[in-house]
Amino acid sequence: MPTPIPLVIDTDPGIDDALAILLALASPEVDLRLVTTVHGNVEVAQTTENALRVLHLAGRSDVPVAAGARESLVHPQPERAGHVHGAAGLGGVELPPSPAVPILRPAVVALAELLMSAPQPVTIAAVGPLTNIALLLRVFPDAAARIGRLVVMGGSAWRGGNVTAAAEFNIWADAEAAQAVLTSSLPTVLVGLDVTLPTVLDEAGIARFAAAGPIGATAAAILQQYLDHARTAYGTTGVVVHDALAVTEAILPGTLGTVRRDVVVDTGLGFGRGQTLVDRRTVSTAPTAVDVAEQVDSAAAVEFLVSRLASLDAAPPDAARR
Ligand code: BDR
Ligand code: CA
Repeated sequence: MPTPIPLVIDTDPGIDDALAILLALASPEVDLRLVTTVHGNVEVAQTTENALRVLHLAGRSDVPVAAGARESLVHPQPERAGHVHGAAGLGGVELPPSPAVPILRPAVVALAELLMSAPQPVTIAAVGPLTNIALLLRVFPDAAARIGRLVVMGGSAWRGGNVTAAAEFNIWADAEAAQAVLTSSLPTVLVGLDVTLPTVLDEAGIARFAAAGPIGATAAAILQQYLDHARTAYGTTGVVVHDALAVTEAILPGTLGTVRRDVVVDTGLGFGRGQTLVDRRTVSTAPTAVDVAEQVDSAAAVEFLVSRLASLDAAPPDAARR
């Protein structure tokens, strides 16, 4: 097995964020070195607490958690997503508290230190609003330049939005940060609604990891609120686990078919705010272009997620990592 890729997850747990963290912990291809939290689905104090508890659920409270931005760079996020993720962000499930506490350094400092000290290129999976990453670019540009890959869950090239007609939630929540990051020349893969929406985890898949043991059963319980929301809001019987698909691309680069595109974010205050304008007329050669995910094998991605989540209960805790 090649050396695992050092991974940071920048996140706002969040139901699908929780699944994404568990997926990373179940994947030997990556070494989850740090979790940084951000405002988004719920307030940052809650996303931080949720991150700690999700890591503890998997027996990995040794992974450091650093709290990040509590608000967007310029315009406060108009509303949170408690109606989707539950008021406390984990679908009404109260996980046992972790013995760990957040590290004392703020997220941007922890990110910068890790990037400057890591001997190998670090992958960052950013699955919440991009406030922390934009701050990193501005405050610690030398550290940001050392990012090996940045995999962003956000935006949409042709499927419209999920929080407004035009905008996907993570981009809409901090449009100015997204514009700074997506035009920064960082080596970025943009995993948007075009590939996440077709990738539906159904109840049969959930039942498989639910049956594997207590971790899988708890993950399934967390998902129940998402299932209920999908049933009422969209009339579907499965859930779209956006963030887990982005983390899959971080774990197995090339999972998604990507094309280099020029992308800008609508930062105006009109109806299009937060829209990712992806220029699909040409393949871009500009240094600021990003790799936009345009193709996905949804069945394979769901199978990967289900089998990895089920494996969390099968594998004994890795004492060597503590
Ligand atoms: C994104 O928005 C959040 O609610 C999810 O966690 C995901 O990161 C999907 O639009
Ligand atoms: Ca998220």
